[in-house]
Amino acid sequence: MCRGRTSVHYEPIAAPHRAGLNKRKVKHMNKRTTSFIVTALAAAACGLLAPAAYAVDADAALALARQNNCLKCHAIDKDKDGPAYKKVAEKYKGKATAEARLIEHITSGEKAKFPDGHEEEHKIVKTNPPKDEAQIKNLVQWILSQ
Ligand code: HEC
Repeated sequence: MCRGRTSVHYEPIAAPHRAGLNKRKVKHMNKRTTSFIVTALAAAACGLLAPAAYAVDADAALALARQNNCLKCHAIDKDKDGPAYKKVAEKYKGKATAEARLIEHITSGEKAKFPDGHEEEHKIVKTNPPKDEAQIKNLVQWILSQ
């Protein structure tokens, strides 16, 4: 998508006879100038078109949460054994490290403290195929978007 518009900028290359340059040099220049413009334009177009926030696939996230029994211990807006996802989203709001932190939390088996005070290893999310980063990221972004 981002490359679609780049061809527009092949035109403004100087005519070789007028510039008084030999063919080889012009060819070289054309290539460089063109590739520079293409790169700059592609970057600009991509920058404009890229969504500001991650686009969460809520259905996929919920399905993965269900398959993993996350909802046995978590709900969206009330605490169970684990904190409500709304509360988690609130806690991490505006924190640049939120995604990485939560990916670590649901993939490492780190200790989780339960309301009764006991600790056990937190559930490690299972995906199909295993350890699918895109699915895990989507689940985390969904939690953060609550
Ligand atoms: C057996 C109960 C249980 C299951 C199942 C469970 N969790 Fe948790 N979860 C907890 C508890 C308890 C905490 C609180 C941990 C703490 O504060 O030490 C927690 C905390 C969290 C947090 C907040 C971490 C933070 O840094 O604030 C997230 C996010 C989370 N769980 C996601 C998930 C996901 C996703 C799944 C499913 C793959 C899942 N949990 C399955 C019990 C569970």
